Amino acid sequence: MVAHRKPPVFLDPAHCPQAGRERMKLPQPIANFGSEHPDPEPALLRRMRETGAVFMMGDNPELPQMPARPQLLDFFHYRFSDIAFMHLLQSARTALDAGQNETVVIACLLHDISNGALMRSDHGYWGAQMIAPYVSEEVAWAVQYHQALRYFADEAAGFKYPDAYNQFFGPDYKPPQYICKAHEQARNHRWYMTSRLITIYDVYAFNDNWDVNPEIFTDIIGRHFKQPAEGLGFDNSPVAHMWRSMIWPNNFL
Ligand SMILES: [Fe+2]
Ligand SMILES: [Fe+2]
Repeated sequence: MVAHRKPPVFLDPAHCPQAGRERMKLPQPIANFGSEHPDPEPALLRRMRETGAVFMMGDNPELPQMPARPQLLDFFHYRFSDIAFMHLLQSARTALDAGQNETVVIACLLHDISNGALMRSDHGYWGAQMIAPYVSEEVAWAVQYHQALRYFADEAAGFKYPDAYNQFFGPDYKPPQYICKAHEQARNHRWYMTSRLITIYDVYAFNDNWDVNPEIFTDIIGRHFKQPAEGLGFDNSPVAHMWRSMIWPNNFL
């Protein structure tokens, strides 16, 4: 296990919803596109009719149990992939060590939050939406626009096109039109440098020998991320469903 992740606690399957039945998991449709695997839904529907199996709803005992009122770091510990967990912490720590202000540090801590357990495609836009009710407008803006800015060098600000992107996408990759336009818009915006600093402290070369304890950010989170008393996912905000989808990612509907 990655250092500083809280040890997971798993539910007893007997105490899960639909206990005693086979609970089938249908992958989210967006994950099936373009894969060589056929759409599994018809076969699972057949299985339901033939065997009495049901589709999973609610807690999956194979996933770490979430607290009843989950807070931001609970999603880090119990839902995010190891790479996302370490990447976000390393980026925020790099900004902190460079003496950046807390707005930049929290933006770095949250910048790829969508990749943790929800959605990779257009992750800056998804991430900005997820956090918008809980952070300043500037932080959400910076997270959204880092999506575009990381494709464009700004050598005067100290950012060159990441070597990792030549490997990820190939050296001939050109970003699409909407990303080019977003970059143009951001360049003249008053918060440009907040978003640009995300791209500067983004740790493009993943370092699996550097453990950062998330607890060092507790105070900064307390000052810059308004955690709802009901827990993320249960505050009836316009984005609560996004957080619930990470709590119960296997729900059939
Ligand atoms: Fe990113
Ligand atoms: Fe990143």
